[in-house]
Amino acid sequence: MRFIWLLAIVGLNLFAATAVQVGDKYKDSGKCNACHSHIVKQWENSWHAKSHYGNDEYFQKTIDYVARKDNRKSLNTIKIECATCHNPRIAVTSTSAEYEAIAALNLDKDSAATKALQSDTIAEGINCVVCHNIDQIHDELPASKRGINRVTWMKSGTMIGPYPDAKSPYHQVQQRPFMDSNPNQLCFVCHANDTSEEGHRFIDMQSEFKSNGKACVDCHMGPQKGGVASTLPIDNGKARKRLIREHGFVGAHTEGMWQNALKVDARKSGAMLEVVLSNPQPHALPSGFGSREILIEAQYTSGGKVIKNEALSLTSHYLSKRGKPTIPHLAVKTTQNISIPAQGAKVFSLPMASGADGVSIVVSYRLVNDEIRELLELKDPIWSKKMVIKKLNLKL
Ligand code: HEC
Ligand code: HEC
Ligand code: HEC
Ligand code: HEC
Ligand code: HEC
Repeated sequence: MRFIWLLAIVGLNLFAATAVQVGDKYKDSGKCNACHSHIVKQWENSWHAKSHYGNDEYFQKTIDYVARKDNRKSLNTIKIECATCHNPRIAVTSTSAEYEAIAALNLDKDSAATKALQSDTIAEGINCVVCHNIDQIHDELPASKRGINRVTWMKSGTMIGPYPDAKSPYHQVQQRPFMDSNPNQLCFVCHANDTSEEGHRFIDMQSEFKSNGKACVDCHMGPQKGGVASTLPIDNGKARKRLIREHGFVGAHTEGMWQNALKVDARKSGAMLEVVLSNPQPHALPSGFGSREILIEAQYTSGGKVIKNEALSLTSHYLSKRGKPTIPHLAVKTTQNISIPAQGAKVFSLPMASGADGVSIVVSYRLVNDEIRELLELKDPIWSKKMVIKKLNLKL
């Protein structure tokens, strides 16, 4: 018995991320277009497709900021760390002290790390061969091992999917439960927890998850519906009918998704206006990812005229090891966490206006709060756009 335990422990320690080369025939979504063009189109608009240094301003500037503040590590080393979840088909999964020494002298142009980061295999972020080329997910590993460190890749050319009876002339197929009966297991490979350079855990989606009977894919890929998985005529000259889902992975960047994402109630309580936010979803909202913000804005009126505006910003703040405001990836501490827990509620109070006979309340969401937008000098208007969750009018 003890021997088996020992074997298990040795096994765990020996497991390290192994990159498996994706063959040229499968390496980008363009290679799937001929037969899965509807899926490619949906995925292209998703933020999984933008998960790359060159395609997401917020991601890029966060990496640059970490590299500037953390003088022990080079920019490329930080990029490789983040690739664990953001670009998991990268060919190099860690760097050594020797590499850092060479990088510090700018002599790393021909290194394997530099080449891996420049490869077009990873330029598509989380693409088809990230999710559909996984052989095993190692949930026996510690919770901190995520992304590339939690999976074993299938050999190139075998696509993992939901159907037990699929056949394709272009690639091999195999079925796995994480594509079908247990899809949360796939999403939790990356959407589970994340830790700063200082070891501070700033997001904990998996342990906070409280099932309401729905899976991630039910809400973020939509319900299963009739359609085709492939447009190739394989069924008596026609495309085969299948139950499928959308590949949009719509989420926080899509305004429409925020409508009624939280339930909002308001009531007068003495000299204060109380706003109750309840969250029917199975994870906290905001999910906890660093900078996200909920805004409550109240406009008081008297006889139809506006007499006062009040606003409340609900967001998390982070402190660096020097005790200064910083971004989540460099934090040693979260000073405030306002997320509404899964299937929970929180009450927030705003001052009333004397003489008001009515109030209109707008609750909205922003991807990045003022503090972090300024620290990183984010330019794209999407980061500060207010996405409306709910509007409410109340007679006082
Ligand atoms: C453990 C997996 C994992 C690692 C490692 C990781 N991330 Fe992420 N990251 C995620 C997930 C999952 C999301 C989406 C979170 C959400 O929206 O709730 C995300 C989102 C982000 C976002 C927000 C992007 C946007 O468009 O709003 C930024 C910025 C970011 N990560 C930066 C980084 C940086 C910089 C690193 C490396 C220092 C890093 N991440 C490492 C999993 C990871
Ligand atoms: C983030 C992970 C992820 C990515 C990226 C992804 N898929 Fe999927 N895909 C899934 C999941 C999960 C299912 C199973 C959906 C279900 O429950 O039926 C699926 C299902 C499919 C199916 C079966 C038909 C269907 O729609 O259910 C095909 C074919 C497919 N994906 C192709 C692709 C292609 C091509 C790409 C790239 C353009 C891609 N996928 C990107 C997760 C992913
Ligand atoms: C020449 C056409 C063709 C090309 C190109 C192609 N596939 Fe397919 N694929 C198919 C057919 C046909 C099926 C089976 C459809 C069915 O049974 O309903 C299939 C099925 C799948 C499935 C589901 C497998 C299962 O067992 O559930 C996945 C996932 C998939 N393909 C991914 C991809 C990816 C990723 C690419 C690009 C790298 C790609 N395919 C390129 C024709 C193609
Ligand atoms: C390989 C790691 C990985 C896997 C597996 C993964 N994701 Fe993601 N996901 C990410 C990262 C990283 C981001 C942030 C990308 C960015 O904003 O640049 C993200 C973003 C998202 C978003 C936010 C989109 C938005 O607009 O804010 C949703 C929703 C999402 N993923 C759902 C899923 C679902 C559902 C699954 C399982 C079927 C899944 N993801 C599997 C890494 C992953
Ligand atoms: C019952 C529906 C539902 C289920 C199930 C669900 N979500 Fe969500 N999720 C939402 C809603 C609603 C939002 C807020 C609007 C939006 O971002 O789509 C959200 C937001 C998100 C975001 C962006 C949050 C932010 O503030 O950055 C991510 C990432 C995400 N979900 C991932 C997941 C993952 C991974 C799972 C499974 C472990 C999951 N969701 C299960 C409904 C759901």
